[in-house]
Amino acid sequence: MSLDLITGTTGVLGLIGNPVRHTLSPLIHNTLSEELGQDLRYLPFPVEEDVTAAVRGAYRLGIRGLNVTVPHKTAVMDSLVDIDEKARIIGAVNTLVRTEGGYKGYNTDMPGLGRALTQRGIHLAGQQVIVLGAGGASRAVCTLALSEGAESVYLLNRTIENAKALADDLNPHFPGKRLKPLAASDYAKVPRIPSIMIQCTSLGLHEGDGLLIDDDDFYHLATYGYDLVYNPAVTPFLRKCEGFGIPADNGLSMLLYQGIIAYELWMGISVSEQLAERVLTRLKRRLYGENVVLVGYMGCGKSTVGQALAEKTGRTFLDTDAAIEEAEDCSIREIFESEGEETFRRMETELLRRLADTAVNTVIATGGGIVLREENRKLLTKIGKVIWLSASPETTLERVKSDSARPLLDSASVQELDDKIRSMLTSRGPAYSAASGCKIDTDGKSVEEIVRILTD
Ligand code: ATR
Repeated sequence: MSLDLITGTTGVLGLIGNPVRHTLSPLIHNTLSEELGQDLRYLPFPVEEDVTAAVRGAYRLGIRGLNVTVPHKTAVMDSLVDIDEKARIIGAVNTLVRTEGGYKGYNTDMPGLGRALTQRGIHLAGQQVIVLGAGGASRAVCTLALSEGAESVYLLNRTIENAKALADDLNPHFPGKRLKPLAASDYAKVPRIPSIMIQCTSLGLHEGDGLLIDDDDFYHLATYGYDLVYNPAVTPFLRKCEGFGIPADNGLSMLLYQGIIAYELWMGISVSEQLAERVLTRLKRRLYGENVVLVGYMGCGKSTVGQALAEKTGRTFLDTDAAIEEAEDCSIREIFESEGEETFRRMETELLRRLADTAVNTVIATGGGIVLREENRKLLTKIGKVIWLSASPETTLERVKSDSARPLLDSASVQELDDKIRSMLTSRGPAYSAASGCKIDTDGKSVEEIVRILTD
């Protein structure tokens, strides 16, 4: 890390909770600051006890804003100068905004889910909503459904007492006693009308977890399903929805937007949807798999190795040449002949831009000349770990001499082809080196051996 990145004017944001080891919030907020050019760093602060002292100290230290997580979301409310109305109803605060004399508390989990659903075209107003689970997360979800004007909210929980207590807590704040607690075993009492179903239990977090309600028939009520769990990406609830063709999403979008709304409150700005999408991609990469990018001269084995690597690591495989051919509906040779190399290189750059914003858990084999543009080299690094597969001129010649699909290698004789390969390898070497983080010499190695090196 460059040492001049943090200066005397760098501001601090942070998270207090216990534990904070596995938090994804630094990734969300530091990405936002980086992309928006804000001189701010977001750090995790493990606070075991005495959250009041921690908040007081943070204020004195000039910390610009804080998130609060388990176990302090309720206890922290005593150390604030003001609390947003909705957060007060929910009874939990996850965001502290610096104001005159102290912090004001907000709950961004609730509007976070609200924005995630709106982005998906889901509106709770006038709907029957079924909430599964009556723990801490469910409080924010029920409050959202009631404030958005859901017609009725059925709250199903393993322990009916917990559902009743939550309903007794929230109903007085909204007209019509629309929050209706039920024991999960009484699910048949839910009116059989199309519903939005939100899964808020911890079921799905662990391998081997089942469902709160097993009866398939129950899920036919759902027109849309949302599971607050996002790790693993697919839970038993989401699998059930998928199996019945019900559109459904996991909780990653709620995590994203609770963070974005907190950042907006701290900074007094609004974050664009495009930026939100880029942050979401970073979260997905961290949780579900980073990309691997293979660069190198033609014939070095990018496609073969890439496919084998993708298969072994459970990633998707993408070949940039094939992706361009598919998008343009013609071969690389035809693009070179009809529009020229420059146009093709532009197409490569556009594709890389898209991959930098969206690719997740993918092995990407690139065209041999993609590294020539500096812009492309930067984009490759943004996509993922870049590996240079190299091969000697002799090996390269052996691998490509009978391949007619490579327009840059059109040559009259094998000698001419050999000369061309040697000169291109020499001239492109520095670009491969500059683009990549490591190099694997593929001469004399089998595909399996190279894949083993890549996965070790
Ligand atoms: P959070 O704060 O994330 O909502 P929580 O407060 O621990 O987590 O609540 C967990 C929710 O998952 C509760 O609704 C809990 O049901 P109970 O109130 O009956 O405890 C539910 N839950 C957890 N494990 C469960 C299981 N094995 N079967 C059914 N429900 C379960």
